[in-house]
Amino acid sequence: MRNLILTSLLAVICIAATAQWSRADYRVVPLPDRIDGIRGADFRLTDNCIINYPTGQRDMERNAALLSQYVEELTGMHLSTRPTVNAKDGLGNISLLIDPKMDNDEGYRITVMPRAVEISGRTAAGVFYGIQTLRKSLPAGQCPEVLLPAAQVSGSPQFGYRGMHLDCVRHFFGVETVKRYIDIMALHGMNRLHWHLTDDQGWRIEIKKYPRLAEVGGWRNGTTLGHNSPVNDGIRYGGYFTQEEIRDIVRYAADRYITIIPEIDMPGHMVAALTAYPELGCTGGPYEVWGMWGVHDDILCMGKDHTLQFVQDVLDEVMELFPSRYIHIGGDEAPRVRWEQCPLCQQRISDLGIHRTERQSAEALLQGWFTTRIQDYLSRHGRSIIGWDELLGCDVDASATIMSWRGAEPGAEGAKLGHDVIMSPVGPLYFDYYQTSNTWNEPTAFGGCNTLKKVFDFEPIPAELPEAARRHIIGVQANVWTEYITCEPQIQYQVLPRMAALAEVQWLRPADKDYDDFLARLPHLVDIYKHYGWTYRAKSLTEKDE
Ligand code: ACM
Ligand code: ZN
Repeated sequence: MRNLILTSLLAVICIAATAQWSRADYRVVPLPDRIDGIRGADFRLTDNCIINYPTGQRDMERNAALLSQYVEELTGMHLSTRPTVNAKDGLGNISLLIDPKMDNDEGYRITVMPRAVEISGRTAAGVFYGIQTLRKSLPAGQCPEVLLPAAQVSGSPQFGYRGMHLDCVRHFFGVETVKRYIDIMALHGMNRLHWHLTDDQGWRIEIKKYPRLAEVGGWRNGTTLGHNSPVNDGIRYGGYFTQEEIRDIVRYAADRYITIIPEIDMPGHMVAALTAYPELGCTGGPYEVWGMWGVHDDILCMGKDHTLQFVQDVLDEVMELFPSRYIHIGGDEAPRVRWEQCPLCQQRISDLGIHRTERQSAEALLQGWFTTRIQDYLSRHGRSIIGWDELLGCDVDASATIMSWRGAEPGAEGAKLGHDVIMSPVGPLYFDYYQTSNTWNEPTAFGGCNTLKKVFDFEPIPAELPEAARRHIIGVQANVWTEYITCEPQIQYQVLPRMAALAEVQWLRPADKDYDDFLARLPHLVDIYKHYGWTYRAKSLTEKDE
């Protein structure tokens, strides 16, 4: 008898647990703007549901296929998809709809009724974000049926530019890793991948006109151990993306509404290119792809017309590969010691009639001249530049978008000057920095301490910024430099769960942010990380901010 009671009790507990776990919870990360309950029974999501999409709309067809894939990955249920031909198709099913009356291009609305679910957006991208919210509200684990509480759930992002950056130079990561990074971004509602492809330590993009860039510049003869120690491992290291691979990745990202913004850093961070083509430098070399980290004195020579032609040729191929309106041209950390010594660079300064000012050296203005030429070139091709905040010291035109990395202050200054700005300050948005001050058991990182809470608390629009400048803060991004990141699990560890906090910064209005509430919603997102086998920093869920 006691056994029977116990067994019955256990059965009740199991049913209760199953019931709880098979019920969707719309309080996901990032939090929707509104979750309004609707009277009526839960919608039963089962294998029998079909995902409808508007006939003839390729992007909505793809959205439907992705929703089906996500549901299957998470719950094991297989939902088929079909083009909608008649209004009754909605009954018992999920319908993806375009609603031109919605006001935000990327906003979504999920309406769960007892007998139908609708996911609407003004654009297919908005529908995709609705799909992500529904996906994250599902349990992660085998489940024959999920109950969706009747409700209307809506969300829209605060910022149009919601970025993550990935350095594939300092360490090289192949196609599959980049695609998984894109998957992780999509789950977090992000839409711009800033892809760092060239630097002193390697050139990672095939350029047909200059094959030595990848073949020679793609390889270094060894890598320093630790933080620029005198010990070099002596192991030849490198690799690059072929143009075919890049096209494949760009397509994969676009299918998930992520635009890839390539960065070709210039005129500094160019030693790999100089190794391949020494005539591009002031001294003529020889150069060697760098096995140390930091800032190298050898940069592109501004005195040679050939260098300018080289940059335009490279950008021609970059524009072919990347449809992005923005091309990132770096501009950071360009020492001018070589230019000061180089007769050709000095001749250029003289020919251009450049004179130093109280604030700027002639060489700083020379970088401004170079940047403006590139800016004009890209603009003639319908593109715009993004550059690091050093460009503000070079008198560039306000049409250049500034990426503020040396704190948020340069970005604020840039916005006041009329530049669009993306906030990406080292503190707290360098995700290659430590996540805790207690670093002993952490994978080696650059330094610093950018905790989950610091990321969450970051406010991209500085409080004191004048009203007219506020609209110039178009977005926010975290950066992942990979000097000390050697493998994919380490990338994931550095970004998860900090990307969750960043997603709330990118999507929520400041008044709607609440850290304790975020921490309460985070474990379910982490269940999804676990389900996909992604590595993440578990301690960030429980430890005090330290
Ligand atoms: C940078 O971190 N050098 C932009
Ligand atoms: Zn020179």
